[in-house]
Amino acid sequence: MIAGTKILVTGGTGYIGSHTVVELINSGYQPVIVDNLSNSSLQVLKQIEGITGVNPEFFNFDLSDKQRIDNLRKIHPDIEGIIHFAAFKAVGESVEQPLKYYRNNIYPLVNLLDSFSEQKVNFVFSSSCTVYGEPDQLPVTESSPVKPAESPYGNTKQIAEDILRDTAKATHNLRVTALRYFNPVGAHASALIGELPIGVPQNLVPFITQSAIGKRGAITVFGNDYNTPDGSCIRDYIHVVDLAKAHIAALKNMENTAQGKTYDVYNVGTGNGNTVLEIIKAFESTTGVKLNYTIGARRSGDIEKIYGDVNKAEKELGWKAELGLPEMMSSAWAWENYIKQHPF
Ligand code: NAD
Ligand code: WQD
Repeated sequence: MIAGTKILVTGGTGYIGSHTVVELINSGYQPVIVDNLSNSSLQVLKQIEGITGVNPEFFNFDLSDKQRIDNLRKIHPDIEGIIHFAAFKAVGESVEQPLKYYRNNIYPLVNLLDSFSEQKVNFVFSSSCTVYGEPDQLPVTESSPVKPAESPYGNTKQIAEDILRDTAKATHNLRVTALRYFNPVGAHASALIGELPIGVPQNLVPFITQSAIGKRGAITVFGNDYNTPDGSCIRDYIHVVDLAKAHIAALKNMENTAQGKTYDVYNVGTGNGNTVLEIIKAFESTTGVKLNYTIGARRSGDIEKIYGDVNKAEKELGWKAELGLPEMMSSAWAWENYIKQHPF
């Protein structure tokens, strides 16, 4: 087992969590994963071992159970950082079942903060650009207004940011970095880990790769009458490996800066906006695979255009996205092919 600084990674077998565990190991940290496998598989640990040679320590429990967190703290009294990924993330489902989202996205956070309140920890939180709603000005900066949430899911991210800011202010032990992710896509270059949507993918890139491999029918482009160059919506797509590296930069920044600043928030994107049709074209030109798509109606609740100003992360965290659309598309496609051959 490696013996670097111990970092508790909640949701560490999930999509972004697994890529971050790999980067933590690559950077000499010792991840300790907690996941209840509600949206991931135990096989991910083997895949991480395949990439890094390290089989990370894993605890299977639900973070709604504070006693289990307290017990974990007794086993590992020397945890110095927490990266909190564990949450539910399906926007549409959150509208149908708001309490499921408030319960799962808030209780575990409060439990973690409570349990670690006597201990010095650096905490990285998975927030989302969803907090900006439909922005008035682009690109959005960290000081752009946080708009009333369109969904209970989005609201849980706003509430969680508030909980973290208030708690960090009130205690000497806690330092927090909230990362507002834009649209994570792609997979690890090894193709051993990637996104594993359950059922029909709601997100664009998993739908594209599943359609391309024949698992789904034609892609529907949700609207081509928006006020954008080709009429389809604009997003800031970021490679998941770049995103994973932002967590390491956030931890190092908290480790290296003097006490004082206890809470900060950063946009994590590329700073570029691309339309849905541009993503479809990028997939086709990178992979050589033709996609079958039709133009459909707008999807209710969709934001017309958003992309981030990412200068703050570059200046203060020394982090910048390095991978472009070709790497995002080719890695997503390699992963879709891998998982077809090796389902888990
Ligand atoms: P994911 O579903 O792949 O990973 C989340 C992991 O948390 C899963 O493995 C799940 O089993 C686990 N989990 C959920 N509730 C738990 C609980 N109560 N106890 C223990 N484990 C639990 O999701 P992801 O895409 O990797 O997202 C990670 C985080 O990033 C989430 O907080 C999500 O809201 C946030 N985020 C994701 C996106 C995106 O588009 N993927 C964008 C912005 C923010
Ligand atoms: C991207 C674009 C769709 C599917 C969601 C959450 C947000 C955040 C990221 C967590 C949009 C279009 C999609 C399809 C399409 N998650 N699209 N056909 O909407 O930016 O955000 O995930 O915090 O909170 O809301 O991502 O991948 O669903 O859509 O045309 O079959 O692709 O309309 O313009 P989105 P997405």
